Amino acid sequence: MRRYRIAAIPADGIGPEVIAAGLEVLEALETRGLGFSLDVTHFDWGSDYYRANGRMMPEDGPERLKGFDAIYFGAVGAPDVPDHVTLWGLRLPICQGFDQYANVRPTKILPGIRAPLAGIGPGDLDWVIVRENSEGEYSGNGGRVHRGLPEEVATEVSVFTRVGVARIMRYAFRLARSRPRRLLTVVTKSNAQRHGMVMWDEIAAEVAREFPDVTWDKMLVDAMTTRMVLKPRSLDTIVATNLHADILSDLAGALAGSLGVAPTANIDPERRYPSMFEPIHGSAFDIVGKGIANPVASFWTGAQMLEHLGEPDAAARLLRAVEQVCAAGVMTPDVGGSATTREVTDAVVDAIRGAND
Ligand code: IPM
Ligand code: MG
Repeated sequence: MRRYRIAAIPADGIGPEVIAAGLEVLEALETRGLGFSLDVTHFDWGSDYYRANGRMMPEDGPERLKGFDAIYFGAVGAPDVPDHVTLWGLRLPICQGFDQYANVRPTKILPGIRAPLAGIGPGDLDWVIVRENSEGEYSGNGGRVHRGLPEEVATEVSVFTRVGVARIMRYAFRLARSRPRRLLTVVTKSNAQRHGMVMWDEIAAEVAREFPDVTWDKMLVDAMTTRMVLKPRSLDTIVATNLHADILSDLAGALAGSLGVAPTANIDPERRYPSMFEPIHGSAFDIVGKGIANPVASFWTGAQMLEHLGEPDAAARLLRAVEQVCAAGVMTPDVGGSATTREVTDAVVDAIRGAND
């Protein structure tokens, strides 16, 4: 039996509801006799913990997570705690401390979900965006001088390192190679930004030589937005900087019909540390406790977690079950259905139990 130790951090808002739902479907998969089991430990960190203790997690939080195989994360954010506290107090220290430099964001149109592009449905849009997750525009490099004076200056300096770019590029080429179309689009802005972005282009061309079986092209980020809308079928795997991919992944979510079902994986490809899997949607406190949170993103990121742990069959089964349930119209109100979190979860559990493959 392959055993994996999972740290569950449901945290804020609808996080606890969708993580509980996700753990139920993961349990249903475990009982299918696929040869693995998950040993889940819960951590009550987040905004409630902050209100009681003045910090989002204990000082030795990262140390306590180190020995786990993966982290299953809900959401952070609360109406009465500033965003920079919740974000920099829990999620970002985990991403950065564990050098989870590859942020992987799959997008596709799930059956039964209405997507906004005319004539584009399930099968026409199946992308994975690889976001550089450790440097670039999010490096925190910069400062402000002469605060409040007319001559105040603020800088926000992007940092691109050869090591950082080469490793994300290699990750993206490898991922592209593992997908049927073997197609990668490298996004930069090397016409206007002539240092870091030109280095991205150069490193892309160098790394591409290691992957002669991957077809790749380059796009400027502005032109990329139009290509995503006008020629969605022409794209497959996409790699971009931290900020560019942040923006493109929201567009991708909208084009697939809902950001509410989108998952994300924060991966340390070298496996020195646990990787972290989470829904993109955030804490959504307006619907907390109503029982209508969409659990699909947490199921989908659960599948990403299984894939990363080396259980691709279980991951594929989970995704198939989710697609089946969506196709049958069992969906929460945010994607046009009338089902509750409970009903969607039960339907996915039933689909997993009923599958005869
Ligand atoms: C995301 C989010 C975050 C980001 C915010 C909450 C800082 O937009 O995960 O895409 O920009 O990284
Ligand atoms: Mg974002």
